[in-house]
Amino acid sequence: MNVLVVVSHSRKDSLTFQVTDRFVQGLAEAGHQAEIVDLHEIGFDPVLRAEDEPDYTQDNQRFSPQIETEITRLKKHDAIAFVFPLWWWHLPAMLKGYIDRVMNNSFAYGSNKLHHEQIIWIALAGVTEEQVNKRNYGESIQNLLNVGIADYCGVSRSKVEFLYETVDALPEHYEELLNQAYELGVNYASAFAEQSAK
Ligand SMILES: Cc1cc2nc3c(=O)[nH]c(=O)nc-3n(C[C@H](O)[C@H](O)[C@H](O)COP(=O)(O)O)c2cc1C
Repeated sequence: MNVLVVVSHSRKDSLTFQVTDRFVQGLAEAGHQAEIVDLHEIGFDPVLRAEDEPDYTQDNQRFSPQIETEITRLKKHDAIAFVFPLWWWHLPAMLKGYIDRVMNNSFAYGSNKLHHEQIIWIALAGVTEEQVNKRNYGESIQNLLNVGIADYCGVSRSKVEFLYETVDALPEHYEELLNQAYELGVNYASAFAEQSAK
């Protein structure tokens, strides 16, 4: 598969970027190609302005140059991965803005849908799995990303993978998280095998 890896973090030395690199190494090990798009590096503007507001009267809307560039980039890949830190139980504003602006009407939903085979959302959480699930945040996030965004855009194969306890952990734990990211890359194609068999 040819995977577009969209990463959102303000620091290149963040764990988020290390996770991204290990995930991509795993993809390569399994024979996939990957392109990383770093939203901060490309200076992505996450604010949806009037020129990119959805025009529901048109089946093929032309967007601003930055959005047309990202749409062209997405069309070259057959799967997507998003890698990001969980901030306030949600996507960072930068990534939320990418969804707002790029996953627009007549490209990602409405008269056209995304053509991508599958999407993975790799979310780094500062807290433990128990803390994430104590108030059902895990389920809410999965519902929002898998159903509210991916499925709405025509991609039924969507999965959220959490990497827990990312803050002030022991070096061994960081190594485990990076190994987890690598395995997600290696197993990306088979991640939905169970789902297809149903
Ligand atoms: C603004 C902000 C909000 C955060 N909100 C959450 C949260 O809702 N849940 C959580 O588990 N961690 C939260 N964290 C912790 C981050 O998820 C954590 O710092 C990140 O996963 C560590 O990866 P990094 O080194 O790549 O930033 C938050 C951190 C920041 C800065």
